[in-house]
This record gives sequence, structure tokens and C-alpha cells, in this order.
Amino acid sequence: MTQDELKQKVAEAALHYVKDVSIVGVGTGSTVKHFINYLADLKGQIEGAVSSSETTTEHLKKVGIPVLDLNAVGPLDVYVDGADEVSPHNHLIKGGGGALTREKIIAAASKQFVCIVDESKIVDTLGAFALPVEIIPMARSYVARELVKLGGQPVWREDFVTDNHNIILDVHNLSILDPIELEKIINNITGVVANGLFAMRPADIILIGGGAEVITR
Ligand code: A5P
Repeated sequence: MTQDELKQKVAEAALHYVKDVSIVGVGTGSTVKHFINYLADLKGQIEGAVSSSETTTEHLKKVGIPVLDLNAVGPLDVYVDGADEVSPHNHLIKGGGGALTREKIIAAASKQFVCIVDESKIVDTLGAFALPVEIIPMARSYVARELVKLGGQPVWREDFVTDNHNIILDVHNLSILDPIELEKIINNITGVVANGLFAMRPADIILIGGGAEVITR
């Protein structure tokens, strides 16, 4: 199977977790694109979806799923999203697509976070994938210097603006031995909006597409 076929298979498996759910939180990325296509088959059964990005909003609308404002709905029963890296403790690195802040907000507001990945995303230690950090534009140089003090090598994702009109620094070579602690430390740098570590609020369920079957962890 190709990587995209694995993503499709794992996206289909996530439908099991949205049965009997009226409002679904929906992430961003190539794996989630497949999930949205499957979710379209349930559109008569769900009230709508809360979207984590403009790209996802556009796709949801295109397939006829109403997009709801998170402020207008209560806590969500389930949030489905992909990841760039998944640790043995279900801690994640996310934000390869730059949607980390809204993704983090929806994950925090959801009772269950179902993460859908192909097997290439499973790692022993987080950090080979550069950690995305969303930053208020005027803080770019200051935050970059603070990230260097933490041992990372921040690289400005040029020609990219987030849906919140901010910028992204991708931080290479971080040694992420304590993801919860590092998530807090980076959050505390003035000018940081959010970082791509999902450790304080990890995934509850990981669906892994590999070979012939989908593994649930
Ligand atoms: C988007 O900002 C990211 O957090 C994605 O969820 C992550 O990059 C996974 O994307 P793919 O499903 O495209 O691998």
C-alpha cells in the first residue's frame, strides 16, 4: 500500500468514533482530507463540524457539511486529526501544515482526541520533525533567540502566514525528552502563540495505518 492509501484506510477507521456524535471536531492535513470525504457520507446524521483551518472549512463546505463556530457549541465529543510525530505516550508533534493553534484549541475543547496516522509517524522520541511554533510577527527575532537558548535551531517558514495572521518558526534539533515540560517552557516565551507539542493534552486514541490492518493504541 502507498502512504496515501494507508492514510485513507486509517481515516475510514476513524468513522467508528463519530457514530452517534452530532458535532465533530475536524483537524487539518492530507490524512484528514480523506476523513472529510468519508464524513460526507454521514452528513445527514451529524449537525455539523468545527473546523481547525480555512483549508478544512473550505473542504467541509464543499462536501456539504455545515461548519459551526466553536463558541456556539458546547464541549465537543470527539476531535479527529492527524500528526507529524507520535510518541509511545501519545504525545504529538503537529503543525506541519501550520494549523497548530486552532488544532490545539479544538483538541483542548474535546472530550476525546482521535489521532489518525500512517505508520511513518510513529517514533520513539519526538524531535526529528522540526517543531512548529506560531509567533506574533514582531516577536520573531526575540523568540528565535530564546529558542536557540533551549538548544534548537529555529528556521522561519518564509512565505507562510497562518490563518491567525502570524508566522511560524520550525525548530530543528531540539532534544525532546520531556515533552510536557518543553511545551510549557515554549508557551511561556512572550510572543509565542502556540507550539506544536501536544503533550499536556495528548491524543486519547491513536489509529495507525500500517500494512493490511489499522492498529488502535
Ligand atoms: C496541520 O497543521 C498538522 O498538524 C497536521 O495534522 C499534520 O501535519 C499531519 O498532516 P498529514 O496528515 O498531512 O500528514
